[in-house]
Amino acid sequence: MSDQTVYLNGVYLPLQDAKISVLDRGFLFGDGVYEVIPVYSGHIFRINEHLTRLDNSLKAIRLENPHTTAEWLAIFEPFLDSSKEQYFYVQITRGAASKRDHAFPEQVQPTVFVMCSDIKPFEGKVSGVKAVTLDDTRWELCQIKAITLLANILLRQEALDQGCAEAILIKQGYVTEGAASNVFIVIDGVLMTPLNNGAILPGITRDVILELAKRNNIPCSEQVIAMEALESASEIWVTSSTREIIPVIELDGKPVADGKPGALFKQMDALLQNEKKIS
Ligand code: PDD
Repeated sequence: MSDQTVYLNGVYLPLQDAKISVLDRGFLFGDGVYEVIPVYSGHIFRINEHLTRLDNSLKAIRLENPHTTAEWLAIFEPFLDSSKEQYFYVQITRGAASKRDHAFPEQVQPTVFVMCSDIKPFEGKVSGVKAVTLDDTRWELCQIKAITLLANILLRQEALDQGCAEAILIKQGYVTEGAASNVFIVIDGVLMTPLNNGAILPGITRDVILELAKRNNIPCSEQVIAMEALESASEIWVTSSTREIIPVIELDGKPVADGKPGALFKQMDALLQNEKKIS
């Protein structure tokens, strides 16, 4: 299927012909949720985990899942291309009501949108990236993969404006996650990541890394991480479905350890590359 073909409400059509109403609640209120799902060689990675998280996001905003798993797979199927790495962007909003009103409308069809793009290799993956710590200004329901991303956008842009690739967010003195990623640190050989307690998005890549660590006897823990711990970390990573694991080599203008991607990053990245092939 052409790169420019998208799926909107039951129809595959060219991107430029995909139109929604200006009364769509996604447009007016950011009233919707989304998923980002990687595809390797035509195989959708951790599809059940992504669809479960989508279901959880929908439940949290009290929107019924418009499709069964089989229906979602049927929607995805025509986009799959075994010759490349791709990702699905899936968005569901509460649809277009007849007028703008904060209250949920009755009898409205949700808007379902799917597009598939190529994953472009992220150059910072090999060399590592700079990051900056910023105050986590987001709301308290960060486990919902909500399309309402204004705070995340402002935080990522602030990082970019400071010459950094990502913002590492701090809430009341503790690390939460990145503007569009989860965070891992290594201290004394132990891989640590903040708890999944509503202050973070439960990242699928995060879960895969924890699973790989356990399977390969790499000590790891989900725990509260104080901001000061970042200074004593020998490695810091940010993780997501589209960029996988990215080593942070400089934080707030200071090198992380020797300022080079660490040994555990290299080991975990190799494990992840293998996992992409086999699962
Ligand atoms: N974002 N935390 C936040 C706030 C995110 O936006 C993301 C990913 C993650 C990592 O989740 P996962 O490993 O499931 O991709 C954590 C996607 C890629 C995005 O918004 O484009």
